[in-house]
Amino acid sequence: MKVRTIPAILSILLPLAASGKEYPMEPPLCYDSFPDESLLKADPKPVGPEWMHNAVFYQIYPQTFCDSNGDGVGDFKGIISKLDYVKSLGVDAIWINPFFESPFRDAGYDISDYYKVAPRYGTNDDARALFKAAHERGIKVLFDFVASYTSIDHPWFKASCDPTPNKYTNWYVWTDDTWFEGQENYTAMFVQGYCERNGNYLQNFFWSQPALNFGYVERDPKQKWQLPPDHPDITALREEMKNVVRFWMEMGADGFRADMAGTLVKKDPDYIKTCEVWRGIHAMLDKDFPGAFTIAEWEDSAASRGGFSSNFLHWRREYYDLWFRDKDSYFLSAGKGDITNFLGLYVRQKEESCGRNYISLTVGNHDLPRVNRWGRDRTDLELIQIFAFTMPNVPFVYYGDEIGMRQLPLKIGREGCYGTRAGDRTPMQWDRSKNLGFSTGESDKLWMPVDPAPDAPTVADEERDPGSMLNFIRGLIAFRKAHTALAANGGFFPVYAQPHAYPFVFIRASDTEKLLVVINPSAQESTASIKGVLKEQKSLIRGTDAKWDEADGTTKITIQGKSFAIYELK
Ligand code: BGC
Ligand code: MG
Repeated sequence: MKVRTIPAILSILLPLAASGKEYPMEPPLCYDSFPDESLLKADPKPVGPEWMHNAVFYQIYPQTFCDSNGDGVGDFKGIISKLDYVKSLGVDAIWINPFFESPFRDAGYDISDYYKVAPRYGTNDDARALFKAAHERGIKVLFDFVASYTSIDHPWFKASCDPTPNKYTNWYVWTDDTWFEGQENYTAMFVQGYCERNGNYLQNFFWSQPALNFGYVERDPKQKWQLPPDHPDITALREEMKNVVRFWMEMGADGFRADMAGTLVKKDPDYIKTCEVWRGIHAMLDKDFPGAFTIAEWEDSAASRGGFSSNFLHWRREYYDLWFRDKDSYFLSAGKGDITNFLGLYVRQKEESCGRNYISLTVGNHDLPRVNRWGRDRTDLELIQIFAFTMPNVPFVYYGDEIGMRQLPLKIGREGCYGTRAGDRTPMQWDRSKNLGFSTGESDKLWMPVDPAPDAPTVADEERDPGSMLNFIRGLIAFRKAHTALAANGGFFPVYAQPHAYPFVFIRASDTEKLLVVINPSAQESTASIKGVLKEQKSLIRGTDAKWDEADGTTKITIQGKSFAIYELK
């Protein structure tokens, strides 16, 4: 079994496919004609409750958002003090990374108590207060649900290390012998010699994150320790996981982001049993917490079969073509990119999920480098955001991206922040006061250093500048909400996407409006040559007008370098 993949292309990022699967590249998809008029409408099957179609999320990394007590680590009181700011962006909901008790060997993803807020962030009462304060402002809150492993410090794991059989013996994946037969196929992901229990435990990510046991579908007859997914101990664990979700939902959460959601059941072809676990949790939510929003870190359309409202795709190689490659991203002014592999992935996922869920096209998160890298200027960043807010998806804005916070070249391994994961988790930049307003604590004691650049962007400066990135993002969120065609359930019709070519042209449609979007991230003026001519009148509603030539049943749209145009078609 292969749990992790390290394709060279991903090595600048987190070396992991969160589903535990190595995916072949999807074949590319190309387009060069206007769609049939009769198709231009909204998706027939909108997902979930009304609020989801228009929802925009904001991701808060609790360590580095706002520190209220000067200990150098962000906290719940700090987040509460900034909710008016969050509201001012126009977002509907926030996702907060894990805030549970933890020894912090992986920044809190290694949980030692699912039912308790880590003291550095506050108390359970503070969590309750945060949910309440958010709701008072019309903001929903997602917690981070880490179901596939715990910390080695979790009492369940400690009990499971005990050689004497007990309730937790089977809650983790243990071989039945430290020298077990066939270990050469397994040692890579197993930790040997950890405790007095004779066996090796399976890790799900770092060595300190033992995999919870959801069983094996394809079992090796020689490895009796591979339990079936319906083993009573596994059923008990599944029930406990439901309790965890119920606990936070009852406290006031509105849903969760599921960490490494595809890795629950091992050797589970097509994720049949993993989806069953998630459907059990979603059935509970549907019954007791209708309207909950769940999003999976799972770059596979199986997420839709598991009942998730949405899923992220960013661990797929096709996704890197958008903005995470250094020389040939599509969104780089060098103009050497190719959008067709991404479309191959995106369009197929959308089809495979049969309208059961949405996709989220995140620009950044705590695992991904901030996209200001690779020499991108402000226009480049804006074009990325135009794409992220006009494509059908549930957008997630990573804290600080709205002011153009920069990836810092830090080499800090704190709490598992290896590689680029340190420089993308630096403190939020609020104003020009000490530590850019993040904390009154000593600068060398902060969880992560603040951007030392004299021109580091701050919220306060950008508030004063109508042309700032901050006000651009606010305007873009408002624009998206004002246009039903841009909602997650609006129809999507690629019009022009050719290998190694610019611009990218597509139509979005609802039952009441049609918008045509042209995006050209390349510095060169570019022409889309499209079969067919539009019957509708077009009027530019945002961006810079392109030149349209219609002749012999072909339309040529020529757009200047580094620009976009959005037309209403009537
Ligand atoms: C999280 C990472 C974390 C990993 C293992 C990922 O899904 O986003 O930050 O290190 O899971 O815990
Ligand atoms: Mg603090």
